[in-house]
Amino acid sequence: MPEQPVNDAINLTSGDFWGRNPHAELRWMRENAPVYWDPNSRTWGVASYADVKSVSRRPDVFCSGEGIRPDTSNLPMMIDMDDPEHKLRRKLVSAGFTPRRVAAQREYLRRICDEIIDSVCESGECDFVHDIAAQLPLIVIGDALGFPREERESLLTWSDDMLRALTGGDDPGLLEHATRAFTGFTEFASSTIADRRACPRDDLISVLINATVNGERLDHESLIQESLLILIGGDETTRHVISGGAWQLFLHPEQRQKLVDEPALIPTAVEEMLRWVSPIKNMARTATRDTVLHDRRVAEGDKLLLLYPSANRDPRVFADPDVFDVTRTPNEHLAFGNGPHFCLGNSLARLELTVLFERLLIRLPDLEPLSRDEPAHRPANFVSGYEAMPVRFTPVRRSAA
Ligand code: HEM
Repeated sequence: MPEQPVNDAINLTSGDFWGRNPHAELRWMRENAPVYWDPNSRTWGVASYADVKSVSRRPDVFCSGEGIRPDTSNLPMMIDMDDPEHKLRRKLVSAGFTPRRVAAQREYLRRICDEIIDSVCESGECDFVHDIAAQLPLIVIGDALGFPREERESLLTWSDDMLRALTGGDDPGLLEHATRAFTGFTEFASSTIADRRACPRDDLISVLINATVNGERLDHESLIQESLLILIGGDETTRHVISGGAWQLFLHPEQRQKLVDEPALIPTAVEEMLRWVSPIKNMARTATRDTVLHDRRVAEGDKLLLLYPSANRDPRVFADPDVFDVTRTPNEHLAFGNGPHFCLGNSLARLELTVLFERLLIRLPDLEPLSRDEPAHRPANFVSGYEAMPVRFTPVRRSAA
């Protein structure tokens, strides 16, 4: 097998690497070493679209059961499991996520979007990330799980603190915050679970407590882990597509105008935002046996990272991949993964994004960033996006609702 070139700028588990949105390095990998052994992180990076897809679809050789992070241990949640356990667990949880149940939420989402815009619209300025982008998925997932609205800010802080600590480093401050966040979330979720056991409601926690498949129910720890997965899956990802998508519309006013003129195009634009931002930077797999992938010898036990932002700019699949284009079709991006773990929340995330952009384009038509410098990305190795984006607009009245 040919010698592999090494690129010292690459470190796939370093928060700083992902924090600089490393498209130059990802391109280098696609062109020079599409299955790249990264000596810095001691993991394989899988960079091409075809390989990310095929590895995702071969869980017998590239499993999830050893964890989807390369540098932390696995947890009893579905994303860290293989079939048949995974399938059973996914069935239990998916009752709450059928496309029909999601579609029925359009009106509800519109109301939440208007409430969020109401909370800032009279002031003429806000932090787009905290005040708008983070709020929508947080409220939606908090409501779905049945967590009280007073706890929203705590949920946001907890999930942020857990993900901020994933930097590949061992900063004691970040780790301490993450541990405190995990304890805080566990205590809070435990008391919600106890409450719903006593008085079930029409929420996802009650569904999770009572769901049975083949006579099985989730135990207490699994309930906590699955609700944490749904919280983080829900509130840490969609927000980056909202803020990253909005930034692209700021950069391309002519494309924004297209959406104003033809709102039916917004779902197509949302797919482009998902492709462009790819907020989940990677998921790990573990080789279950010695194997060969794209001419590289992968040993049993090796970790591989599926590099979604790289797959989504692969020129073999996307024409002019570095061009943001709200009319792009087809757009079979892999931002939601592929194969048995394909994102359970994808319909919900897509609808949240569509409704929010519909409302923003109508209600804050001259929204613009305070600075033309691109906002900084969070230096974290799993989920990353803008941490803050100050914006301004002509103040407008709150909605009648
Ligand atoms: C833009 C937003 C989102 C993105 C980019 C995203 C991305 C992903 C990806 C890449 C996976 C595949 C993991 C793997 O193959 O190892 C996944 C799985 C998952 N996502 Fe999402 N997600 C988003 C929103 C959501 C939302 C809103 C929820 C919940 C409400 C959610 C819940 C889940 C769950 C439960 C899984 C695990 C499914 C399984 O293991 O079978 N996600 N997501």
